Amino acid sequence: MNNKKIVIKVCHGHACSGRFSKYILERAQAEADGREGLICEECPCQGNCEKGPTVIITKNDNDQKYSHMDPNEIAKIMKKF
Ligand code: FES
Repeated sequence: MNNKKIVIKVCHGHACSGRFSKYILERAQAEADGREGLICEECPCQGNCEKGPTVIITKNDNDQKYSHMDPNEIAKIMKKF
């Protein structure tokens, strides 16, 4: 059994929300549905506003920051997990 968790945090700060980050979270949640160990949640501003929408993916205790995200991109990344 795989106990490893991957946490996908989608920024819901002002700038990223204004760039429709909620659709990224919705897509991530749809992608995670029925898959064990994938957690999707909102997070506050990550100080990356100019390059938002921002997503932070934590895997094996490492944070990776993704800029200029969109729903298709998050789905593409998550399919590789
Ligand atoms: S609002 Fe998303 S990085 Fe600042």
